[in-house]
Amino acid sequence: MKVTVAGTGYVGLVTGVCLADLGHHVTCMDVQEEKINLLKAGYSPIYETGLEPILQKNIANGRLHFTTNPKEAYAQNDLIFITVGTPENPDGTADLQYVERVALTIAGQLEDDVIVCMKSTVPVGTTEKVQKIIEQNKPPHLAVEVVSNPEFLREGSAVEDFYYGDRIVIGSRNQEAAATLEELYSPLQIPMIKTDIRSAEMIKYASNAFLATKISFINEISTLCEKIGANIDEVASGIGSDRRIGPHFLQAGIGYGGSCFPKDTKALAQLAGNVQHPFELLEAVIKVNNRQQSLPVEKAKHLLGSLQGLKVAVLGIAFKPKTDDIREAASIKIITELLNEGAIVTAYDPVAIPNAEKVFGEKVMFTDEIREAILHADLAIIATEWDQIKMFPLYLYSEYMNDALIIDGRNCYSLAQAKRHEIKYISIGRPVEQGDGSPVSLN
Ligand code: UGA
Repeated sequence: MKVTVAGTGYVGLVTGVCLADLGHHVTCMDVQEEKINLLKAGYSPIYETGLEPILQKNIANGRLHFTTNPKEAYAQNDLIFITVGTPENPDGTADLQYVERVALTIAGQLEDDVIVCMKSTVPVGTTEKVQKIIEQNKPPHLAVEVVSNPEFLREGSAVEDFYYGDRIVIGSRNQEAAATLEELYSPLQIPMIKTDIRSAEMIKYASNAFLATKISFINEISTLCEKIGANIDEVASGIGSDRRIGPHFLQAGIGYGGSCFPKDTKALAQLAGNVQHPFELLEAVIKVNNRQQSLPVEKAKHLLGSLQGLKVAVLGIAFKPKTDDIREAASIKIITELLNEGAIVTAYDPVAIPNAEKVFGEKVMFTDEIREAILHADLAIIATEWDQIKMFPLYLYSEYMNDALIIDGRNCYSLAQAKRHEIKYISIGRPVEQGDGSPVSLN
């Protein structure tokens, strides 16, 4: 099929590249000339495992094209995917200006019937709104059907998720349009759920909200574990082996970040408010997450008193491993709080430094070497569970740091490992380990 993907962010680029790899003819459209030039040369502007080789392969075999020209992108296609950003407005609602603008541009360029597919995460009712915008601005003789096809890819494993996703959701009022999407995705052999447009839009928000709820729930349990002397590892494994609960998304830590959960939970809470049904459970999930992100600095202050002039290493800046994305990352809040407390911060990340430099500039020293980050540090805070951090030998903390105090926000090391070294090791929801075996009181 002939497909255009409008917007080359994480979702759009992975979708475009992988659809080309399935055998479709794909054009990726973006207004950013610089990004398109980079892509044309075979380079990915984002760090996403496995993406670049597939990108290069499909440029070479002629199935993948990039353009900034709307006519070339939108005039004649079987399908157009809208994958532009839906950032957060100051009041938590989704900002739909990019979606609306691209809908108008598409309508103005169409020369043939087409199916337009909303893939960006949008509030319930937006797909219908896009249908209206296109109806009112397209050439009258053309037939356009707008469908909803929400995305469930995770950053860092997006390519794998594209090929091996759990389900594909297609929301459409028109059987034929839904059948075209089914055909597009048929080589993947992933179960397809066909439903109405509003339910499809809601499935996306409800999925992310449910996953965020799981995380805040386990984080609340982890705080209780700390207070009563239980171990969250044992508890998560115990509850996760009930098939009705499942073992996934029960990793306690310093909260969820990224471009999706924080934004989508707030947007759903707003949507609920708009229909006079305050979503109290979700509001609590958001509150717990905000509190969780402040835990490391709170714990540090509890243990050290003032942080003024202390050297602190923040290990991991990306909101999760295998990505350079730092949007809503716990590390941003941690670094900001540390700077406010007068600490001297050195931050380590294997790939996210260029993005972090844009936020903190010269206020923070950055390094892609863990040893350099912890050298002469008074405290190390682990904010992302990169493999490089998990594999970093614990004895090196006592060798390099002034005083080997580690606050591990992602439970990267086992307590058994921590016990064997001359370090003070504080993690999330687990007993505190101190070199001499004596307990450290956090209450
Ligand atoms: C999330 C969803 O998992 C995807 O299905 C969805 O398509 C995507 O949002 C989106 O809406 O576009 P993503 O944000 O890339 O994907 O990353 P996740 O792997 O879901 O992690 C989100 C955050 O939750 C991370 O900060 C991670 O550290 C945290 N997390 C995850 C936990 O704290 N504990 C867990 O057990 C799992």
